[in-house]
Amino acid sequence: MDLSNRIILIGMPGSGKTTLGKELSEWMNLPFFDLDDLIESKEEKTIQQIFGQEGEDAFREMEASTLEGFCNSHNKFVLAAGGGTPCYYNNLELMNANAKTIYLDVSAEALFERMNKTAVEKRPLFKNENVLDKIKSLIESRRPFYEKAKHRLMSDSISVEDISGILKEESH
Ligand code: S3P
Repeated sequence: MDLSNRIILIGMPGSGKTTLGKELSEWMNLPFFDLDDLIESKEEKTIQQIFGQEGEDAFREMEASTLEGFCNSHNKFVLAAGGGTPCYYNNLELMNANAKTIYLDVSAEALFERMNKTAVEKRPLFKNENVLDKIKSLIESRRPFYEKAKHRLMSDSISVEDISGILKEESH
């Protein structure tokens, strides 16, 4: 399968998957998708509602099946995964088999600075938590998954040029 037009961005909430994904999609002239948005339209509920009414396990199941359905039905895309996507079911293997995966590795401190009140409210995992501690513990447990991405950018100020740079390098 030709993966050059299939890109998936992974990393913690606030790492820039959606913002950079949109920029990259314009840069590469590819359609942009956000896995959370796809789940919300499929379920006709917000992520907060799904977590609140059905719980995290149900959300993870929907996430895995939406991801699989998406990979099977799209040829060209930039996809922003959810922060936890690579860590459940065989999502990581599926993403690596179907796309170029890029891990946006941003420090806990920088993620924390970006997490304003609205960003916290939109993300049920941070509800009633000390946000910095939660970010640190999530990074700790997720790093082994994130690090299996095909590419990794480690910086607190990743740009679309950095992403296209590693993709170009690879194609040479
Ligand atoms: C989650 C991240 C969210 C969303 C859900 C769970 C996580 O996506 O999928 O709230 O487990 O880190 P973003 O990374 O886009 O915030």
